[in-house]
Amino acid sequence: MTLHSDLSSNPIAQAKRLAAEKAIEYVEDGAVIGVGTGSTVAFFIEALGHIRQRIAGAVSSSEQSSLQLRQLGIEVLDLNSAGPLPLYVDGADECDPHKRLIKGGGAALTREKIIAQASKRFICIIDAGKRVDVLGRFPLPIEVVPMARSLVAREIVAQTGGQPVWREGVVTDNGNWVLDIHGLKITDPVAMETALNQITGVVSVGLFARRPADIVIIGGKTAELM
Ligand code: A5P
Repeated sequence: MTLHSDLSSNPIAQAKRLAAEKAIEYVEDGAVIGVGTGSTVAFFIEALGHIRQRIAGAVSSSEQSSLQLRQLGIEVLDLNSAGPLPLYVDGADECDPHKRLIKGGGAALTREKIIAQASKRFICIIDAGKRVDVLGRFPLPIEVVPMARSLVAREIVAQTGGQPVWREGVVTDNGNWVLDIHGLKITDPVAMETALNQITGVVSVGLFARRPADIVIIGGKTAELM
């Protein structure tokens, strides 16, 4: 695929590929696999394509991933009929030492969060540049109902002191909009996720702290587990 051959010449892409291919070791025969979104996951889907006969299908977190899955002959199933999943594999924008994440750089946070919640094991695949001690350097994505954009933005300023920026022109797969909160230093991710979830008009918060990853695979020269 064009995207992958372009990326494969760069070391970050190589690190993402390494992490993604390591995650294949956790795929059990006959399972329905939860699949995230993004350039790292694109490598995972590519690898999943090589073992498609071994799996029953996938539940996808975005139209983008669904398209790639179908192109590789992997059936995309509805979460309501698939039920609880044994495994969810997804990337992240930031990861702290407690495997808490910022996600949503690709605007797929809501479906990603739903599948993570529905899965027994969540494996996060990242390149080493995504590791941080404290979350917040990457602007925190928040999916909002469009009519509530300004209301939510004002509330976020009051509650966090961060600066919300509307990701103008982006519409999520759910028909909503995204605010990115800049300037945060998230020392208590569980508390912030809980508080932001309460704001009327917020659909979901790109903090994955209440349900963090179970295993993080970090790609570099090799693939290391956290
Ligand atoms: C998608 O909405 C995000 O949560 C992605 O998981 C995240 O942006 C990671 O993307 P890359 O794998 O492209 O870095």
